[in-house]
Amino acid sequence: MSAQSSYNKVLDLLKQHHKWFNESIPLIASENIPSAAVREAIVSDFGNRYAEGWPGERVYAGCIYIDEVELICNDLAKQVFKSEFADCRATSGVVANLAIYSAFSNPGDYMIAASIPSGGHISHGKKEHFGTAGLVHGLNIEHFPFSKEEMTIDVDATKKKIQEMILEGRSPKIAMFGGSLFLFPHPVKELSEFMHENNIYVNYDAAHVAGLIAGGEFQQPLSEGADSMTMSSHKTLWGPQGGIIVSYQKHAELIKKAIFPGNTSSHHLHHVAGKAIALAESLEFGKDYAIQVIKNAKKLAESLVERGFGILGEKRGYTQSHQIAVDVSKFGDGGTIEKDLEKGNIILNRQLLPGDIKAGKNYLHPSGVRIGTSEVTRLGMKESEMIEIAEFIKRIVVNKEDPLIVSKDIIEFKKGYQKVHYAFDNELGAYEYISLVKNKN
Ligand SMILES: Cc1ncc(COP(=O)(O)O)c(C=O)c1O
Repeated sequence: MSAQSSYNKVLDLLKQHHKWFNESIPLIASENIPSAAVREAIVSDFGNRYAEGWPGERVYAGCIYIDEVELICNDLAKQVFKSEFADCRATSGVVANLAIYSAFSNPGDYMIAASIPSGGHISHGKKEHFGTAGLVHGLNIEHFPFSKEEMTIDVDATKKKIQEMILEGRSPKIAMFGGSLFLFPHPVKELSEFMHENNIYVNYDAAHVAGLIAGGEFQQPLSEGADSMTMSSHKTLWGPQGGIIVSYQKHAELIKKAIFPGNTSSHHLHHVAGKAIALAESLEFGKDYAIQVIKNAKKLAESLVERGFGILGEKRGYTQSHQIAVDVSKFGDGGTIEKDLEKGNIILNRQLLPGDIKAGKNYLHPSGVRIGTSEVTRLGMKESEMIEIAEFIKRIVVNKEDPLIVSKDIIEFKKGYQKVHYAFDNELGAYEYISLVKNKN
């Protein structure tokens, strides 16, 4: 392909993507749709600049306005997460986690975290699985004992496991709470004191649930005893892609150095501006949003159960977060179902469920799919729309209707949900493509 046609093709593909998402039901639990203001920040000149270091102590000139924005961003993060200290420079949730590993452990140390089938994230994972903690920072990983019935970490079994590790000379340096499949709060309150008594640093990875914590509708890890909280800025928190760390003043200097120079050089200043806007939106609209996200997730779970699906966490009402975990093994495997739904304009992802690895399943063909209600809620959907979504899913997965036929009804349905809600401004269409190129050939 010539340079000119590659150039044209990429611009065309971007437009096609926008059109497709405009006509689809977005249910990926780790995604959200930002406001027009966040999108404006992302295309600003901040994205072309460097500002290594801390506001007021930069390695570069040209940072007068950048410094002001970053200070506003840090102040907003402190307010939203009720923390003494915030650092908004991590360029992703993984980089935020890496900074915590760098600040509070050394290669060869142990960390305890959730396994992937129990909801853990690959950035908490072992070297042999190419997990960031093992591969990049040389940590040895042990897993929290997990109760499938309660869908959370087992407190007593964790204490026992850590006592055994201490006796064996393998005491963890870090306990990493939080995860990617995250239906119910983790026992931070129940375990933090025990961890601290044993000199174990407690981090809570709020990548998924940051927006719910911000809205006061999920556990509050810092007040429950966590030393720090890492997060992505773009999942239930609706900012641009990036990371944030909040903590106590006593840990500030170590965290700051671990971010720069430890784990970043450029820290994506356009995204810092976007994070500031997203945090301001969260302060204003975050509570109402978080309440509705969780109501929607519960309603979607109940509506899917009524249509024959198995949902994990039944004993506890399926979920207290934005996510639900659906066991689809009666109807096929998670990978095939993900693809069938995608053909019908329903975008979600397959999911390993607890017990899958032991049962010989792998991440390509697990027994589950994970659904998140963050984005559909930001588009203004409420409980009645969750019933409609459950019915669309049933038509493809249970009735085995042709996804292309179902997609026609989805395109009609989606016409009613074209704007971003819970924002200061919602004139622009949620997926409206903004073309900056004036004379495209
Ligand atoms: C628990 C958890 N931590 C960290 C991350 C990584 O975040 P990012 O994609 O911002 O690096 C994810 C991503 O899904 C996650 O689920």
